[in-house]
Amino acid sequence: MTDNELLAAADKAMENAYAPYSGFRVGAALLCADGRVFTGCNIENASYGATNCAERTAVFKAVSEGCRDFTAIAIVSSGGGETYPCGICRQVLGEFSPSIRIILRSSGGEAVSYTFQELMPKFFSL
Ligand code: THU
Repeated sequence: MTDNELLAAADKAMENAYAPYSGFRVGAALLCADGRVFTGCNIENASYGATNCAERTAVFKAVSEGCRDFTAIAIVSSGGGETYPCGICRQVLGEFSPSIRIILRSSGGEAVSYTFQELMPKFFSL
Protein backbone atom coordinates (compact mmCIF):
# COMPACT_ATOMS: atom_id res chain seq x y z
CA MET A 1 0.00 0.00 0.00
CA THR A 2 1.55 3.32 -1.07
CA ASP A 3 1.31 6.52 0.93
CA ASN A 4 -0.96 7.98 -1.74
CA GLU A 5 -3.26 4.95 -1.56
CA LEU A 6 -3.50 5.34 2.21
CA LEU A 7 -4.27 9.06 1.78
CA ALA A 8 -7.00 8.13 -0.70
CA ALA A 9 -8.54 5.78 1.90
CA ALA A 10 -8.46 8.64 4.42
CA ASP A 11 -10.18 10.91 1.87
CA LYS A 12 -12.97 8.37 1.51
CA ALA A 13 -13.33 8.02 5.29
CA MET A 14 -13.63 11.81 5.60
CA GLU A 15 -16.87 11.59 3.60
CA ASN A 16 -18.48 10.09 6.73
CA ALA A 17 -17.26 12.80 9.11
CA TYR A 18 -19.95 14.03 11.48
CA ALA A 19 -18.86 17.59 12.19
CA PRO A 20 -21.94 19.83 12.46
CA TYR A 21 -20.39 21.99 15.20
CA SER A 22 -16.91 22.78 13.90
CA GLY A 23 -17.52 22.17 10.21
CA PHE A 24 -13.96 20.74 10.20
CA ARG A 25 -13.99 17.30 8.60
CA VAL A 26 -11.18 14.82 9.22
CA GLY A 27 -10.42 11.37 7.79
CA ALA A 28 -7.80 8.83 8.80
CA ALA A 29 -6.58 5.51 7.43
CA LEU A 30 -4.50 3.21 9.59
CA LEU A 31 -2.28 0.56 8.03
CA CYS A 32 -1.63 -2.48 10.23
CA ALA A 33 1.42 -4.73 10.08
CA ASP A 34 -0.75 -7.58 8.77
CA GLY A 35 -1.84 -5.42 5.83
CA ARG A 36 -5.31 -4.57 7.07
CA VAL A 37 -6.48 -0.96 6.81
CA PHE A 38 -8.89 0.61 9.29
CA THR A 39 -10.40 3.99 8.54
CA GLY A 40 -11.98 6.61 10.76
CA CYS A 41 -13.62 10.02 10.72
CA ASN A 42 -14.26 12.62 13.39
CA ILE A 43 -17.56 12.19 15.22
CA GLU A 44 -18.72 15.29 17.08
CA ASN A 45 -21.30 15.60 19.82
CA ALA A 46 -23.52 18.36 21.22
CA SER A 47 -21.59 17.77 24.44
CA TYR A 48 -18.37 18.88 22.77
CA GLY A 49 -16.05 16.89 25.01
CA ALA A 50 -17.65 13.67 23.80
CA THR A 51 -16.23 14.28 20.31
CA ASN A 52 -13.95 11.58 18.91
CA CYS A 53 -11.14 12.43 16.50
CA ALA A 54 -10.75 10.57 13.20
CA GLU A 55 -7.43 9.05 14.25
CA ARG A 56 -8.81 7.56 17.46
CA THR A 57 -11.87 6.26 15.63
CA ALA A 58 -9.51 4.31 13.34
CA VAL A 59 -7.32 3.12 16.21
CA PHE A 60 -10.26 1.94 18.30
CA LYS A 61 -11.75 0.10 15.34
CA ALA A 62 -8.42 -1.65 14.76
CA VAL A 63 -7.79 -2.60 18.38
CA SER A 64 -11.33 -3.89 18.78
CA GLU A 65 -10.70 -6.14 15.76
CA GLY A 66 -7.50 -7.54 17.25
CA CYS A 67 -4.94 -5.34 15.50
CA ARG A 68 -2.45 -3.39 17.64
CA ASP A 69 0.64 -3.23 15.45
CA PHE A 70 0.39 -0.17 13.22
CA THR A 71 2.77 0.69 10.41
CA ALA A 72 1.39 4.03 9.20
CA ILE A 73 -1.55 6.40 9.51
CA ALA A 74 -2.68 8.87 6.86
CA ILE A 75 -4.62 11.93 7.97
CA VAL A 76 -6.56 14.39 5.80
CA SER A 77 -9.00 17.19 6.54
CA SER A 78 -11.28 19.69 4.91
CA GLY A 79 -8.91 22.41 6.13
CA GLY A 80 -6.39 21.97 3.30
CA GLY A 81 -2.70 21.40 3.89
CA GLU A 82 -1.22 19.32 6.66
CA THR A 83 -3.49 18.31 9.53
CA TYR A 84 -1.35 17.13 12.43
CA PRO A 85 -2.84 14.71 14.95
CA CYS A 86 -3.82 16.29 18.26
CA GLY A 87 -1.94 15.45 21.45
CA ILE A 88 -4.48 12.94 22.70
CA CYS A 89 -4.36 11.04 19.39
CA ARG A 90 -0.54 11.05 19.45
CA GLN A 91 -0.65 9.59 22.96
CA VAL A 92 -3.09 6.88 21.84
CA LEU A 93 -1.00 6.00 18.77
CA GLY A 94 2.08 5.77 21.00
CA GLU A 95 0.34 3.31 23.31
CA PHE A 96 0.32 0.73 20.54
CA SER A 97 2.91 1.68 17.94
CA PRO A 98 5.58 4.21 18.88
CA SER A 99 7.34 3.57 15.59
CA ILE A 100 4.32 4.35 13.41
CA ARG A 101 4.83 6.66 10.43
CA ILE A 102 2.42 9.60 10.17
CA ILE A 103 1.48 10.60 6.62
CA LEU A 104 -0.11 13.95 5.87
CA ARG A 105 -1.03 15.73 2.69
CA SER A 106 0.91 18.93 2.16
CA SER A 107 -0.68 22.14 0.93
CA GLY A 108 0.93 21.31 -2.43
CA GLY A 109 -1.02 18.04 -2.52
CA GLU A 110 1.87 15.61 -2.12
CA ALA A 111 2.35 13.15 0.75
CA VAL A 112 4.71 14.15 3.55
CA SER A 113 5.57 11.86 6.42
CA TYR A 114 7.00 12.01 9.91
CA THR A 115 8.17 9.44 12.38
CA PHE A 116 6.20 9.18 15.59
CA GLN A 117 9.37 10.22 17.44
CA GLU A 118 9.50 13.49 15.49
CA LEU A 119 5.96 14.42 16.51
CA MET A 120 5.82 12.95 20.02
CA PRO A 121 9.21 12.54 21.70
CA LYS A 122 9.18 11.46 25.33
CA PHE A 123 5.49 10.58 25.45
CA PHE A 124 3.89 9.38 28.65
CA SER A 125 3.99 5.70 29.50
CA LEU A 126 3.60 3.63 32.66
N1 THU B 1 -10.00 16.51 15.02
C1 THU B 1 -9.64 15.28 14.56
O1 THU B 1 -10.48 14.51 14.07
N2 THU B 1 -8.34 14.93 14.65
C2 THU B 1 -7.35 15.70 15.20
O2 THU B 1 -6.21 15.25 15.34
C3 THU B 1 -7.66 17.06 15.61
C4 THU B 1 -9.08 17.46 15.60
C5 THU B 1 -11.41 16.92 14.92
C6 THU B 1 -12.12 17.03 16.23
C7 THU B 1 -13.24 18.00 15.90
O3 THU B 1 -14.32 17.27 15.38
C8 THU B 1 -12.66 18.86 14.80
O4 THU B 1 -11.51 18.18 14.32
C9 THU B 1 -12.27 20.25 15.24
O5 THU B 1 -11.44 20.23 16.33
